Amino acid sequence: MKDLSSEFKDKKVLITGGLGMIGSTIAIKLVNYGANVTLVDSCIEPYGANLFNIEPIKDKVTINISDIRDKESIKMLVKNKDIIFNLAGQVSHNDSMDNPYLDADINYIGHLTVLECLRKHNPDAVILHAGSRLQFGRIEYLPVDEKHPLRPRTPYALNKTAAENTYFFYHDVHGIRFVAFRIANPYGPRSQMRHNKYSMINWFIRQAMESRTLKVFGDGGQIRDYIYVDDLAEAFIQASANSTCHGKVFNVGSGIGTKFKDMAETIVATVGDGGVEYVPWPHNYINVETGDHITDISKIHEATGWKPVIDLSEGIKNTYEYYKKNNAYYWG
Ligand SMILES: NC(=O)c1ccc[n+]([C@@H]2O[C@H](COP(=O)([O-])OP(=O)(O)OC[C@H]3O[C@@H](n4cnc5c(N)ncnc54)[C@H](O)[C@@H]3O)[C@@H](O)[C@H]2O)c1
Repeated sequence: MKDLSSEFKDKKVLITGGLGMIGSTIAIKLVNYGANVTLVDSCIEPYGANLFNIEPIKDKVTINISDIRDKESIKMLVKNKDIIFNLAGQVSHNDSMDNPYLDADINYIGHLTVLECLRKHNPDAVILHAGSRLQFGRIEYLPVDEKHPLRPRTPYALNKTAAENTYFFYHDVHGIRFVAFRIANPYGPRSQMRHNKYSMINWFIRQAMESRTLKVFGDGGQIRDYIYVDDLAEAFIQASANSTCHGKVFNVGSGIGTKFKDMAETIVATVGDGGVEYVPWPHNYINVETGDHITDISKIHEATGWKPVIDLSEGIKNTYEYYKKNNAYYWG
């Protein structure tokens, strides 16, 4: 893996969705490397923006409350930046079923807006996209590599795929350097904890901390690939700094499959509270269920040397410790 301690010194970095879980984790790492970081976030409810997420670096970053759909703001913000982590997004696949227009507006048109501003005002910057494992739809084989067919089953996954294709278009036709990730199931400190629309591990940790029952759908045998947010942030940073990654898409996860029930039971054991209950699959979940998922992470590993270092039990413990200390800033 590249030693990044000097790579980012004085680099001008823009992070959209920078007050959310993944964006703020990247920001903390980059500030520690000496980067000059600007965060853009629209702070729309019920998404994950939280000023407390950047508490350790609050005096060392610039914050701009803007929407990526606002052409005039984005035009000014992309100018003179070296790297743009374009993470702003509507993250709930269920909400995208109820309101596909809003999802398309943010996850597709918003990203098109940033790319257009880049083409016109800063074509030399590198830009990164946060796509999703959901882009694959029903899983046909495991582990899932980048060649697996894309058959999105939600507007969220459709718009992420349309956006990803748009990054390829801007690369192939306009020479914009980008890296696209298709991310498995991220979790960890700094995720929103107010609803269960996304980041189930985080939601389950809160449920256990409040002595509640963790409701597992079906028999809990469904397999997921959980990636700790610090590991994910490191993968983003490594890929941004590695020119062999530019113009490519990578699957990013832990590379390890875990049964849903084992994840839930690990949380109950770690927190020492709560319980697990098995309930029938609700219609709006079974409808979009993709089947078991395990990520093939060999492409990103070969390109950058990156591999995750925090396993699930350590990640759950770290996350629990974080919210035990800081729950006042996240419960609501
Ligand atoms: N959390 C997941 O399960 C997951 C999985 C795969 C991919 N992703 C993608 O990673 C990115 C970051 O997600 P996260 O997990 O940190 O979620 P998050 O909700 O914590 O962060 C997303 C941030 O984007 C901001 N945002 C939303 N719409 C915006 C807009 N129009 N303009 C500016 N800011 C806007 C929100 O306020 C929020 O702070 C998203 O694009 C998401 O789709 C997330």
